[in-house]
Amino acid sequence: MIFHHARRIARGVAAAGAVCAFGLASAGAAQEARPVNAESCTSCHGPGGVSLGAIPTIAGQDVAELDAALRGYRDGARQGTIMGRLVGPLSDAEIVEISAYFAALTGPEQ
Ligand code: HEC
Repeated sequence: MIFHHARRIARGVAAAGAVCAFGLASAGAAQEARPVNAESCTSCHGPGGVSLGAIPTIAGQDVAELDAALRGYRDGARQGTIMGRLVGPLSDAEIVEISAYFAALTGPEQ
């Protein structure tokens, strides 16, 4: 009887382990979805893209505005002190990805 019970507990633990492993796997996928260079943006634009100072907040901005701003800086159509040099090496795909990432973050007034 006791043995039988122990086996049932063991099976329960194994099932819980499977749930855990799944949780870790989806957390990993979420991290992969974050653009590689998004971390470099937050050093100036604030944690999570919400600025603590004079540099504009980019979290929660319209995705099309972020996209247009980044392309503008990269292609020279939009003037800035530093952004042009920073986004120079970004591809169109990276700009789309980074814009979507910051647009999806919660802005300060939400
Ligand atoms: C060294 C500091 C610094 C870093 C790093 C930085 N930015 Fe900026 N960003 C600025 C400054 C300063 C401005 C204002 C324009 C200018 O002077 O270039 C700006 C402007 C912007 C704007 C326009 C915002 C608006 O409302 O007008 C966007 C969008 C933006 N940055 C996105 C990014 C992204 C995305 C990254 C990471 C790839 C990034 N920035 C990295 C300093 C930085």
